[in-house]
Amino acid sequence: MSYGATTPEDPSSSIGETEPNPTIRKDRSLGWLKRLGPVLATHRKRLLLSVAAAIIAMVVQILVPRVVGLAIDQGLSERNKSLWPFVAVLIALAVARGVFTFAYRYGLYGMAFKVENQLRNLLFEHLGRLSFSFFDRVQSGQIISRANSDIRSVQMFLAFAPIMAVQFMSFIIAILLMSAISLPLTAITMVALPAVFIVGQRLRKIMFPLSWIVQSRQAEVATVVDENINGIRVVKAFAAERHQINSLGVAAVKLRWANLFQHYARAAHTPFIENLPRVALALVLLIGGRQVIDGTLTIGDLISFNLYIILLQAPFRFIGMLLILGQRAKASAARMYEILDESPSVTDSPGAIDLPSGNGLIRFDNVSFTYGTETIGDSAGSTSSPPILHEFNLVLQPGSITAIVGRTGTGKSTVSRLLMRFYDVESGQITIDGSDVRSLTQSSLRNRVGLVSDEPFLFSTTIKENIAYGMPEATSTEIEEAARAAQAHDFICDLKSGYNTVVGERGYDLSGGQRQRIAIARLFLMKPQILIFDDATSSIDVAVEEAIHKNLLTLLKGRTTIIIAHRLSTIALADSVVLIDNGAVVAKGTHSDLMETVPLYAQTLASGDADKKPTAAKTQAIFSEDGGL
Ligand SMILES: Nc1ncnc2c1ncn2[C@@H]1O[C@H](COP(=O)(O)OP(=O)(O)O)[C@@H](O)[C@H]1O
Ligand SMILES: [Mg+2]
Repeated sequence: MSYGATTPEDPSSSIGETEPNPTIRKDRSLGWLKRLGPVLATHRKRLLLSVAAAIIAMVVQILVPRVVGLAIDQGLSERNKSLWPFVAVLIALAVARGVFTFAYRYGLYGMAFKVENQLRNLLFEHLGRLSFSFFDRVQSGQIISRANSDIRSVQMFLAFAPIMAVQFMSFIIAILLMSAISLPLTAITMVALPAVFIVGQRLRKIMFPLSWIVQSRQAEVATVVDENINGIRVVKAFAAERHQINSLGVAAVKLRWANLFQHYARAAHTPFIENLPRVALALVLLIGGRQVIDGTLTIGDLISFNLYIILLQAPFRFIGMLLILGQRAKASAARMYEILDESPSVTDSPGAIDLPSGNGLIRFDNVSFTYGTETIGDSAGSTSSPPILHEFNLVLQPGSITAIVGRTGTGKSTVSRLLMRFYDVESGQITIDGSDVRSLTQSSLRNRVGLVSDEPFLFSTTIKENIAYGMPEATSTEIEEAARAAQAHDFICDLKSGYNTVVGERGYDLSGGQRQRIAIARLFLMKPQILIFDDATSSIDVAVEEAIHKNLLTLLKGRTTIIIAHRLSTIALADSVVLIDNGAVVAKGTHSDLMETVPLYAQTLASGDADKKPTAAKTQAIFSEDGGL
């Protein structure tokens, strides 16, 4: 058989096409399938054609018992008449059934997989829009499982539901055809129906919460696995494999229990749903057999009737399956909608403008801020946490370089995140050249403010693309210049493929210091007007750092800069130092002033390693060859 006309379309041909991706309906009171309406509507034609093909396949199937019955009756009554016409009809029906079954299955599965793809894209686009606060509170395992198994179970339902609807129609038609043969026998067949219905209802009620539990426990397992893979260095360093295996074990046992319980519920109900019609078969044979003996029913009719009852088994089986798939899809869709219904906490306000050009005067006026703690899914509820910044005031003059010093956890990084508007202030305001950051477009703000953090993230692509991240138009010369300024050029040239070396997953094949230098190179290339270095050189050798500082001084001229640091060599870059403690500025001045007059400042610097918490990057730096801590 040639698949020429019907092979799945080559995916590469549709990549790059920008079909508008429809979203789900926003109204949460609608049923889950209704909310999916706009997505399904894009496949209306395919769906209609597939259902039409399924109906034809079903009608063809239903004609078979009737033809067989008629053939037998004719064979019995007129023994010398040819049976070939019946054989020909049966063959034609079989061929038609094959063709149309192929057509509807191809159509429906194709539609379901397309919807799956659309939903995954929707989810991914939406995740891209969500704010930091969402990712703070939702574990990545939860997101991964929603993007995989939950979307998959919705997909399965979409492929099966139309088939089952058609099966249900075939059920009705078969009953009508059966009634035409014998009403009393049809009535006997039906005795099982109410019982099937009641058992089905019970199963439906049990399955919905169970499916939810199974899916959320799958997410728990995914979370443990995700943490272990991402944190494998820490796990091994602390010889904690056993402990981690135990916690995976606990999650797995919980999942096993939920799965077993689900299958128990299924096993306890489906035999009733599937086998009750078979009891009817026995009754029909008994009563129908007597009728044939009495001569009130022909043998052909009895055989047709039996074939119909056997045909009915499939729809009955499917009812059970539909109930299970339907409940699972509903639970999964709800979990998926939970993410899609999240609105980003930080959005461009309706009249947002691009940051007007200015000198780069930054003001924090009475800023207060607390991290939110709500969660989604079945994780712990919300608790109130203490404010991180409280009535925080700070003015950064245009072109100034200010060092922010403070103990670990006082909120130094929070200050930089608020300036980037990763989070919105709770009260007070942050302005750049007089514009409240909340009145600006996020893109213009983030183009003008450049941030290097202590744990820079590199993508699994070439070093070149990592340096030019967000600036794809940069030339190779510009990239190289930036790398030289960040003292990264030499080590990059030592790598196997130089600038075209692909960074390993999460940048693990580069040391912490090397990754920091690549992140600093990004800033040398981007040259933003406002710069924030958040412990950006913490993993870089002091000697290398000095060389970077020389280049930085040229870059920083005329740009407003915040340097969060605890190393004296880094603080020395700044014109003035701000000491923060308990969420507010407690002292401001030059380094030497503060050393003399503020004991807390000297203390904070003396306990400089206080800022070296064992974060992933730091731990990694400890274990890499030139971490330079
Ligand atoms: N995303 C977050 N969600 C909740 N709490 C956070 C988050 N980030 C930081 N914190 C908490 O806020 C406080 C200040 O954090 P941070 O600004 O990173 O401190 P610093 O940079 O001064 O070490 C810390 O107590 C920290 O635990
Ligand atoms: Mg910090």
